[in-house]
This record gives sequence, C-alpha cells and structure tokens, in this order.
Amino acid sequence: MTRDSRLDLPQRPRRLRRTPLVRDLVAETDLRLRHLVQGHFVLPGADRAEDIATMPGIQRLTVDRLVRRAGEDLARGVRSLMLFGVPEDKDGEASGAVDPDGEVPRAVRALKAEFGDELVVMVDVCLCPYTDHGHCGFVEDGEVVNDPSVARLAEMAEVLAAAGADFVCPSDMMDGRVGAIRAALDRRGFTSTGILAYTAKYASAFYGPFRDAAGSAPGFGDRKSYQMDPRNRREALRELRLDLDEGADLVMVKPALAYLDVIADVAAESDVPVVAYNVSGEYSMVKTAAREGLADERAMTLEVLGAIRRAGADLIITYHAAQAAAEGWLDR
Ligand code: PBG
Repeated sequence: MTRDSRLDLPQRPRRLRRTPLVRDLVAETDLRLRHLVQGHFVLPGADRAEDIATMPGIQRLTVDRLVRRAGEDLARGVRSLMLFGVPEDKDGEASGAVDPDGEVPRAVRALKAEFGDELVVMVDVCLCPYTDHGHCGFVEDGEVVNDPSVARLAEMAEVLAAAGADFVCPSDMMDGRVGAIRAALDRRGFTSTGILAYTAKYASAFYGPFRDAAGSAPGFGDRKSYQMDPRNRREALRELRLDLDEGADLVMVKPALAYLDVIADVAAESDVPVVAYNVSGEYSMVKTAAREGLADERAMTLEVLGAIRRAGADLIITYHAAQAAAEGWLDR
C-alpha cells in the first residue's frame, strides 16, 4: 500500500541531489586550497620544532624548519601563509617587534629568498608577543593607550615590509592603525606592500590555544577595551568603513565559526576581498572531537571551512590548510 503511493509534486528538490555529478553541477560555493592560508608560529634559533599542547598537529618552528615545511606545503598547493612570532625577549616597549633581526623578519627574508612570488607571505602585526604584560599596545597607568601603540605598530610594519612581506596584518585593534601603517609604508616607498586589516576582531574565548602557542596571554585584565564585544554586529560595519577609508586592501572577520553573520554582513558591504580567520580554538575543537571519535575530522573541517566560504569569505586563515593539502582533501 504505502509502497504504491504517489504524491503529486511538481517541485522535487531531491532531483538536484540525485548523483554526485548533479550535486557538483549545482553547488553554489566551492572550497579549494587556493582559498586557504596556513598559520605558522616562528621560534628564535635554529633546527627546532616544538609541539603545541593545545593545538594538536601544529608545531612552533625555527626559520630553517619553517622554510622546509613551507616548501613541502607549497609543493602540495598551499600558496600562502601567515606568520606569528614567538620571541624569547619581551619588554615594556615591545622592542622585539621592531628588531630587523628578530625571528619573523628573518623568516620573511628566508621565505622570500627561497620562494619569491611563488608564495604569498602575510605577517601578523601586533605587540602582544613582544610586551612583558602581553597586551596588544603600550600600557600606561593600567590602561592600554592608543596613539603611542599605533606609532610602534607602524614601525613594526615598516620592518616587515622591508623584509619583503607581501601583506602586513594588524591584529591589535587600536584606532587609526591602518591609516598610520599605510602612511608609514608609503613614506618609505613600500607602496606595493598590502595591508590585511583585522577589521572585526572580537574579544573571543576561542583564542585560548593561540595564546598558549605564542605565549601572548595578557598578564593582567583582558582585551575587551580594544577587541570588539561579541554582542555587537552593526559595529563591524563601522570598523569596515574606517579600515576601507584608511586604505585596507583586505579586511578580516575573526573568529569565523561563531561570527558567520558578521562575515555575511561584511561581505555584502565590502568592495575589497573578505578574509575570515578560523582561529585556534575552532581548530582545536575539531581536532579534539575527532580524537575522541565523536565525528570525522575531514568531514567536520570541510563543513566548517565550506560554511565560512558560504557566509561570504573569499579567503580563510586556518591551521588545517597544510593537512588538507597533505591528505588530499581539496583540489587546488
Ligand atoms: C594577536 C593575535 C591573536 C590571534 C591572532 N593574532 C591573539 C589575541 O588577540 O589574543 C588569535 C589567533 C588564533 O586564535 O588562532 N593579537
């Protein structure tokens, strides 16, 4: 009886889901290796690789090891990366941030010497790994001060541009830093160095593993006086307008997974490409669930990254890029 029943349905959405080929034909978004940027943590010294307890599968690398790893990843189709320094020396002035012989400028020079324009090198610009208090700007009377911090960030961006970075990426969330960095770069003649602005960067619990990896947790207080309040959506568009006016070449929403609405808003308004940062806590959440056998890592990762693309991101910074390439999860 039930086996013979026929509904009179002119609309049957399942017709477009019938075979893999039909599904591919009508897919609305795609995810490829070219959309992904691999994050890396750079150690001082040589010939060292350290596991990061809170980020399974990711290691902090010295420059020589980083160049080797980046070469292997590049051969498999990972064509861009983002660098974060893990300096040993920290002080109140974030001196390490402007040292041309620091691990990050050395890494940029080494990567560019080896791979030239075959590899896009992006570098995080922030003071938190270099300050002894771990805040993203200078601290005076217990407050993170804006304008002196911006001056330091602009100097840091100059050092990285001089080393050959393709994009400098301010993640500090001070007011006016994109404009100050653009002016500083242009004054030095670095008119081709791009700025990827961390435009809507929220004060998020999902940065926990990163702060362990980079040793950049604030020594007191929190980052809520400069990073955005997770309750706010409209404010992201204000930050977007400012960063575009100040000369950002690429704009970012961070984190990604809990902020898909913000990615969609920014993508609708932005006239430059939109980047989303699939942050450390999002990565480690998937890794941990996979290790516990709760769900398949490849399937979860591709669903998460695909959702970020569907929300409107052009590019995604993710710690899963190299693994996706090595294990053949994605086409170039
Ligand atoms: C530096 C910075 C952070 C991240 C990127 N740049 C940490 C923070 O703001 O505390 C987080 C990235 C991640 O969690 O993967 N300001």
